[in-house]
Amino acid sequence: MKSLTVLLLVAIVMTARSQDINITKGWKFKTGDQMQWASPNLNDSDWEPIEVGKPWELQGHTGYNGYAWYRLRVVIPSSIKAKAFLKEKIHIDLGEIDDGDEVYLNGSLIGRNAGQGSDIRQGNYSLQRSYQLPIADSRIFWDKENVIAVRVYDSGGDGGMFTGKYGISMMDVTDYVEINANDHNFQFPAKGKISKKITIRSSSDKYDFNGKLQILISDPANDSTIFKQTIGVDFARDRPFEYTYKASLPQTKSYLVTYRFEEDRSKKIVSATEGIPYLLTPPTPETPRINGPAVYGVRPGSPFLFRIPATGKKPLIYEAAGLPAGLVLDKQTGIITGSLSEKGQYTVKLVVKNSLASASRSFRILCGDQIGLTPALGWNSWNCWGLTVNDEKVKASARVMHEKLADHGWAYINIDDGWEDKRNSNGEMLPNSKFPDMKGLTDYVHSLGLKVGIYSSPGPQTCGGFAGSYQHEEQDAKTYGAWGFDYLKYDWCSYGNVAPAQPSLEEYKKPYLVMGAGLAKAGRDILFSFCQYGMGEVWKWGAEAGGNSWRTTGDINDSWGSLSGIGFTQNTASPYAGPGHFNDPDMLVVGKVGWGPSLHNTRLTPDEQYTHISLWALLASPLLIGCDMSQLDDFTLNLLTNDEVLAVDQDALGRGADKIYEKDHLQVWEKELSDGSHALGIFNLGEKAAQAVIPLSDLHLAAQAQLRDLWRQQDLGVVKTAYRGAIPAHGVVFLKAKAAGNRK
Ligand code: GAL
Repeated sequence: MKSLTVLLLVAIVMTARSQDINITKGWKFKTGDQMQWASPNLNDSDWEPIEVGKPWELQGHTGYNGYAWYRLRVVIPSSIKAKAFLKEKIHIDLGEIDDGDEVYLNGSLIGRNAGQGSDIRQGNYSLQRSYQLPIADSRIFWDKENVIAVRVYDSGGDGGMFTGKYGISMMDVTDYVEINANDHNFQFPAKGKISKKITIRSSSDKYDFNGKLQILISDPANDSTIFKQTIGVDFARDRPFEYTYKASLPQTKSYLVTYRFEEDRSKKIVSATEGIPYLLTPPTPETPRINGPAVYGVRPGSPFLFRIPATGKKPLIYEAAGLPAGLVLDKQTGIITGSLSEKGQYTVKLVVKNSLASASRSFRILCGDQIGLTPALGWNSWNCWGLTVNDEKVKASARVMHEKLADHGWAYINIDDGWEDKRNSNGEMLPNSKFPDMKGLTDYVHSLGLKVGIYSSPGPQTCGGFAGSYQHEEQDAKTYGAWGFDYLKYDWCSYGNVAPAQPSLEEYKKPYLVMGAGLAKAGRDILFSFCQYGMGEVWKWGAEAGGNSWRTTGDINDSWGSLSGIGFTQNTASPYAGPGHFNDPDMLVVGKVGWGPSLHNTRLTPDEQYTHISLWALLASPLLIGCDMSQLDDFTLNLLTNDEVLAVDQDALGRGADKIYEKDHLQVWEKELSDGSHALGIFNLGEKAAQAVIPLSDLHLAAQAQLRDLWRQQDLGVVKTAYRGAIPAHGVVFLKAKAAGNRK
């Protein structure tokens, strides 16, 4: 959660390395904190066994926040030295630890992750811990038992050694070589053609490297090779190897490219694989089309702001027949503003015209108590900028959203943690110097027809260590209202230190009810987004406690493990979604992400990204883009602008999808839509491409069904008896089964 100062900590590279000693098994665990627990001589036989790679909350310590220790006894054999080509250092990989930690080897400190200071309570949870020690370091006991003791502090949400890589191994040639395919995006110079620049780097001052690089493109559906090239390579620290390859691809579908570098002296191999992006969303038609939600909630007296999302050749002219008194439309920008004084329901006919044609759609405005009738579509600063967010980055994101995404319904620009300074003498919260003019910022975002969000915590501090709203809730809500915010993400964080260790249901609800009462006095509609990682089964009471959405899980990251672990377990919470109150399985990890300040392309494959967006749309999740908007590449933009896919997320019924089928690695998730049809995501969770044959009855469809491929926006015609289709590894086929008559 903070930028880091870490002792002896080394970033891992994209390239996979194997571990000489497996340390995933045999760990012992105890809550509490005593420094003598670092000692190798401690008798820990009565400590409980624990798994690493899984939060302690899932292992009998639900809701536990605070200190705990992990211990492992492991023999480090000198045979691993003999096997290695280079005989210099070992490294110990201990995965990611939530939130901060200190690591002891045989009683001596070998590293600490404490965010910006020395207090592990401010640690950076999303960092792979990898500690290096020279082989002559006396803290290592060769050929004897060693004790690794990990002191952990968790401030809220998931805790412990929760995910990542574990192992002890010798640093070898391959640890100094990084194949970097991440700096440059794929280019699509013509239909069926790709080109891509890759780099191979050395991080060693001591060695130059020579070897051979093989580039191999394969079709994972049948393991055939599409393209193969081998080239000689040499590079050194100050002289990276760069190469651009070009290839032709026979179809618009999933292909894999593998880079395999064989080092001449050691014959060791470093390899990396990536999926080649392929664009499924067809180009947007030139004729007008109205997108976005068909229903919109506002409270009486609150400022109204809605920009009609519509695509088509510019200029577009907007009309709205039947707008209730109090609302006005700007026909050139499509922005509706004003306010409604009375509760009521109004059906408006939206019309959008251009030189080619005209489109119309019915739009329902519900003026009452409920807002956020469909999930928020927007952007949030956290997954790219982390705590380095500032006014200019927010404005730049708003500009890009306005230019490239708003016509598809994207509307919110949300500032996450990192805007706060301190309170003035009246107790009012002040923004830090990165946000010189909050009112000016919200006015700017509103002028584009977009909305804007802010972040706080019910605790004394936010997760990033800034002042939270504790005991200033109403005052803060009024400040947000006066500044012009439309959305509040309210993140539990240090409230864990205020609430009892095992909160009751009432204690879980309390901070949200207190802030909800404050927001009611803010003078404008502020969407209320709960963030407390799913504690106390928030989906069961989030709506009644005033939430427009609530996080159901810990933080997501851009890995398949994180994405699939979160996404495919949402069926428990899913039935609780409905108009105005949605489950939030966390923000999107597509595009250039990084948690600030340095960014990388998402590590998800293109197929995993199709899965991500499809599943989140089926779940009626808020879709909050988490990438650098100024670096939206063609693939990411294509992924985020499929109006038929977004329509599933924005459907007025607000249903969350249900898992209706699971066999081998295939799962089908189904969501009922307001027009009587159903959206079906057929997902392949397996590591290999699959040929799915699923009886229509298992898809809850009658013997004949009319199917449409939503990503390709293509009718598949009438399908009889069974659905048959190829589904890439970790990929999806996203369908709409039309016509109510087809239902069983
Ligand atoms: C986490 C939260 C993230 C982000 C971060 C800010 O607890 O889950 O989404 O808001 O805090 O510090």
